Amino acid sequence: MTESRVALITGSSSGIGAAVARRLADEGMRIVVNSARSEAAGKELASSLPDAVYVKGDVADPADAQRIVQATIDAYGRLDVLVNNAGTTRFIPLNDLEGADISAWREIFDVNVFGAWQLTAAAVPHLRASGSASVINISSVSATRALGSSIPYAVSKAALNHMTRLLASQLGPDIRVNAVAPGLVDTAWYAEADEVWESSRDWITANTPLKRVGTPEDVSEAVHFLIRATYTTGDVITVDGGRHIV
Ligand SMILES: NC(=O)c1ccc[n+]([C@@H]2O[C@H](COP(=O)([O-])OP(=O)(O)OC[C@H]3O[C@@H](n4cnc5c(N)ncnc54)[C@H](OP(=O)(O)O)[C@@H]3O)[C@@H](O)[C@H]2O)c1
Repeated sequence: MTESRVALITGSSSGIGAAVARRLADEGMRIVVNSARSEAAGKELASSLPDAVYVKGDVADPADAQRIVQATIDAYGRLDVLVNNAGTTRFIPLNDLEGADISAWREIFDVNVFGAWQLTAAAVPHLRASGSASVINISSVSATRALGSSIPYAVSKAALNHMTRLLASQLGPDIRVNAVAPGLVDTAWYAEADEVWESSRDWITANTPLKRVGTPEDVSEAVHFLIRATYTTGDVITVDGGRHIV
């Protein structure tokens, strides 16, 4: 019998990451669930899946990034899929230049850009041994449109898109690197931004072709597609209900 493939999904104690963990577990993959803080939720998700472990660690911390990948190898002896999903933002109106101070830039880039970079760098030697490895970065439509929770967040996702293309150019043929760019997805993300959430949801429901906001499962389907898309690399797939064509 061939050994089941192993997927490490950063930031998977809730929202999109948790949906990706469930989707890939449904495919028979062994799963590493990760979060920096929400340990109870991460452990609960891991114990609900057929074969999964939880590893606590902050992707922004260089030592933690190494340790998360090593814990994956210690648990399962291989790594086939890395989903760089852990992300953070601050809700700062785009015209509030003082609000987007340098601490906001650093905090957001630390997780969204440097976190994805150091997880990928630590994972590459193991991914090369997989035979059909895939890295999938969770970006955002704000990377390419003049919108988003804040300018530092949107620029961090633009950097992640370009990191996706550059890594794809260097890591083939062993490893494919792609990204998924969701529009608005109904997750805990918006708990701290009620008003923003309500007005954005109403606008999307009224004006976009699919007339609803996204679900974490909409995004996990695209991640699953990219894992199977054996001739696709360096691409960013939009999952936004058609908002980008309105
Ligand atoms: N929701 C949307 O509308 C939307 C749209 C486009 C893109 N995205 C992207 O989708 C991804 C997931 O967002 P979500 O909406 O699912 O948010 P969420 O429900 O808040 O989940 C974020 C996850 O990341 C973890 N996390 C945060 N910082 C971390 C760190 N430094 N190290 C490790 N884990 C960390 C969180 O756990 P702890 O906080 O406990 O560590 C949690 O598990 C993000 O990259 C986000 O930018 C979301």
